[in-house]
Amino acid sequence: MAQLNPVSILAIESSCDETAASICVDGRILSNYIANQTVHEKYGGVVPELASRAHMQHIVPVVDAALKEAGRSVQDMDAIAFTQAPGLIGSLLVGSQFAKSLAMALDKPLIAVHHMQAHVLANLITANGDENNKPDFPFLCLTVSGGHTQIVLASSPLDLKVIGETIDDAAGEAFDKSAKILGLPYPGGPLIDKYAKEGNPLKFKFAEPQIPELNFSFSGLKTSVLYFIQAETRKDERFIEKNLNDLCASIQHTIIHILLKKLNKAVQQTGVKRICIAGGVSANSGLRNALKEMGNKKGWQTFIPKFEYCTDNAAMIAITAYHKYLNKEFVDLDISPSARAEW
Ligand code: KG4
Ligand code: ZN
Repeated sequence: MAQLNPVSILAIESSCDETAASICVDGRILSNYIANQTVHEKYGGVVPELASRAHMQHIVPVVDAALKEAGRSVQDMDAIAFTQAPGLIGSLLVGSQFAKSLAMALDKPLIAVHHMQAHVLANLITANGDENNKPDFPFLCLTVSGGHTQIVLASSPLDLKVIGETIDDAAGEAFDKSAKILGLPYPGGPLIDKYAKEGNPLKFKFAEPQIPELNFSFSGLKTSVLYFIQAETRKDERFIEKNLNDLCASIQHTIIHILLKKLNKAVQQTGVKRICIAGGVSANSGLRNALKEMGNKKGWQTFIPKFEYCTDNAAMIAITAYHKYLNKEFVDLDISPSARAEW
């Protein structure tokens, strides 16, 4: 039966190091508020205990800001949604406890969202910066983040199937670990992107794995970068400094080549030519351009979410929760978050 009253949802994301809240009304995002945690920078990666503490400090002001920006009060909400899995357990606990308390106090339904499903559905918010440009189903989504690398076949908003994934490191880790070898701070992905713009992507060659089916592997690339840098810096200790742009461009080029090769194989296997990307690494300008180019060449329809919906955010949790609301997929208050979760 058609929904007559508008559906308002407050969604909370706290799976890693971003505390985020979003308000969505009938699938339209009214606010998308994020507090980043800078506390981890000096440690070269996310420190779980510090992340949970920062979530505790941020969650009330972040939810408050999202409600204010949307011009809504918490009493206007029809449901409360939160990221249930996967992620850092201490971080997930802060968001889930907050969402559960709110749902109980307001006597509203609670919706549990899978973070990776939400990254895919970020494409239903907006694509190519155009609110009206969204993919029809079915589509393929290349989800590339700091913790995951997957090719997902989306047949409907709630029917998503992982058809390929990494067997070791994620694409984001390949960026971040390579950046660390080059002496760049965490997270190195955006910095590699920045320096790569001025470099020659074909200057240096790094190992590309031969992995069967639609799966990926990135741990060999990291090792190949490490051995190459060690050998070159033994000959010239200023090697990195002199070649930073070309090194970044070549590493980025290799990662993109590995990703697009498998995506092309997935298109051939499924016959689906509507292609989306999602996850933090989809903010990479080289990947965005290469996907557009490949799409033009191969006759694919490509969809790329706005930057703010690529990296971790609560708008993607809200849009997923909206579809779950329409399907009446609610959870009980005794639900627990989970660090790992199959889907
Ligand atoms: O999806 P996300 O925000 O968090 C996870 O769920 O992991 O992804 C974070 C990852 C990090 O590895 C970060 O380096 C990478 O996304 N990233 C980028 C860029 N922006 C973020 N990697 C390459 N180029 C970028 N512009
Ligand atoms: Zn993520």
